[in-house]
Amino acid sequence: MQVVIADSAAEVGRIAAAKVASVIRHRPEAVLGLATGSSPLAIYADLADRVHSGRLRVDAVRAFALDEYVGLPLEHPESYHSVIRTVVTEPVGLTPELVNVPDGSAADLDAAADAYERAIRDAGGVDVQILGIGANGHIGFNEPTSSFASRTRIKTLAPQTRADNARFFASPDEVPTHCVTQGLGTILDARQLVLVATGASKADAVHAMVEGPLSSMCPGSALQLHPHAMVVVDEAAAARLE
Ligand code: F6R
Repeated sequence: MQVVIADSAAEVGRIAAAKVASVIRHRPEAVLGLATGSSPLAIYADLADRVHSGRLRVDAVRAFALDEYVGLPLEHPESYHSVIRTVVTEPVGLTPELVNVPDGSAADLDAAADAYERAIRDAGGVDVQILGIGANGHIGFNEPTSSFASRTRIKTLAPQTRADNARFFASPDEVPTHCVTQGLGTILDARQLVLVATGASKADAVHAMVEGPLSSMCPGSALQLHPHAMVVVDEAAAARLE
């Protein structure tokens, strides 16, 4: 695992975006793995800047989001369908038909999750997966105790994750209780991983991911198994690293 400690949150975004942009430059039809949440916003802003200044073309880029809430209508502003559209697809200029988000409203969620796995496989797999990490060590919505072999499936959100994400909803009760998420096995299949984390609230999770034992109690520690994983953090998130 390559760990890069950057001076600021903006620099974290720039370093991670440079990695993603170099993958796209080598392969214009690259398959990106997209995360939601606050952490990757600086990456998407930097990519948008590169596209709008003519330094990067993304029309042929394909993308798969990590996760989606169960039970939120697609048009709800906090559904990850909406969030991916408004923070990634539109600003960066991805081709909407090439951007996929798991279906959290399907009548048969298991079948929809299996179909999502097949779609990723049929696209040839993910070239570079963007990740954030939860304060409890989750990646995607693979909460502690998730199997390292897991694939896309329904999960129950941990109380801490629901509390952390309550900031996006009018009241904590509105945060969905379940999600569909790519599994740790799905994430580990990506050819490259780029995880970003900023701020003191991530220091324990970053320490456990990078220096703790490989353990399903810290799903992020699965990155220790990946041959091409880059972790980019600011000084506050790096505070507990040896
Ligand atoms: C969301 C996701 C989550 C977030 C994590 C950190 O698609 O995959 O693992 O990356 O919850 O969220 P933020 O960045 O908001 O702290």
